[in-house]
Amino acid sequence: MTAKLIDGTLIAAQVRQETGDAVARLKAEHGLAPGLATVLVGENPASKAYVGSKQKACQELGMVSIGCKLPDTASQEEVEKVVRDLNADPQVHGILVQLPLPRHLNEERILSAVSLEKDVDGFHPVNIGRLSMKGREPLFVPCTPAGCIELLVRSGVKIAGAEAVVLGRSNIVGLPVSMLLLHRDATVTICHSRSADLPAICRRADILIAAVGRADMVKADWVKPGAAVIDVGINQAWVAHPADREYVCATSGKTFAGHRAEESDKGSRREVGQYCAACDKAWLKGQNAPECCEQCGPHCGHVKLFRRYKLVGDVDFDQVQEVAGYLTPVPGGVGPMTIAMLMHNTYRGALHTIK
Ligand code: GUN
Repeated sequence: MTAKLIDGTLIAAQVRQETGDAVARLKAEHGLAPGLATVLVGENPASKAYVGSKQKACQELGMVSIGCKLPDTASQEEVEKVVRDLNADPQVHGILVQLPLPRHLNEERILSAVSLEKDVDGFHPVNIGRLSMKGREPLFVPCTPAGCIELLVRSGVKIAGAEAVVLGRSNIVGLPVSMLLLHRDATVTICHSRSADLPAICRRADILIAAVGRADMVKADWVKPGAAVIDVGINQAWVAHPADREYVCATSGKTFAGHRAEESDKGSRREVGQYCAACDKAWLKGQNAPECCEQCGPHCGHVKLFRRYKLVGDVDFDQVQEVAGYLTPVPGGVGPMTIAMLMHNTYRGALHTIK
């Protein structure tokens, strides 16, 4: 048996199209363009890329995008002030504080400062609280969990009465997606690193949501034949490149593989270390250069070393596609849905202001 692929790129495009059409009507009928403010603190490259994609999506859908960037030295008060100013800005209908925040900041206090009516990420404690209670309606539901549900619903997977197992209990995905499944009358089990016999628990699932951040963890024998498997993981796995050579880090003694910049093109590669031809020494990124290389200096021809990587999910795709009934790929599964649902939430934020 081969699983039916759930095409997140296609379903996200449908959601975006529907949202774009609704935005156009809102503009035509009420002269109102939904506005999303993103708050990015620090220089985390993944966070920068995510925020960039969110801003681009806003523009594509005719929404206003307001980007607030703060240095990673920003104080708690500075970040909260930015949030309060955005709360008061009538052009802004949604505020997204990109996570993770630098460690010195109190995430809970910053997320609590976001106006409930603009909490398009659904992370405000009151929205999460309402999501976690029976018969209470949050104003917004977190985007990645909402995207998982949308993928299931639009693929025709029956949730009511299903045994659903969620691997992971994070505030961003595991916990809220469990609540959403429960609201839709699934029988939900939440597993985590201390759960005994994960494969046996997962094998019970008609719907399995993997959100743990461990590459290829879910194997074929973890999956009930015919189950719907949603892979939320985005992990980096190294891929061998023909030009890779083995190096020994002169500082730490660890061996590592890598190749020089000119030996591969720029896509999907990461700097892993440096090599000094004059001293014939290599060292890992994050380690100090050996003393001799420090003295000879960069003019001696230090070069950066790179390795190729690819993105893989928490599910071993090749194995699990032989067993599952439905499966999301990585990339191209849950990822595009997060932004699509954010756009939908921002539109709803604008709609609230005229109702
Ligand atoms: N970091 C990872 N996922 C998310 C998300 O959905 N929203 C925000 N704000 N930060 C994130």
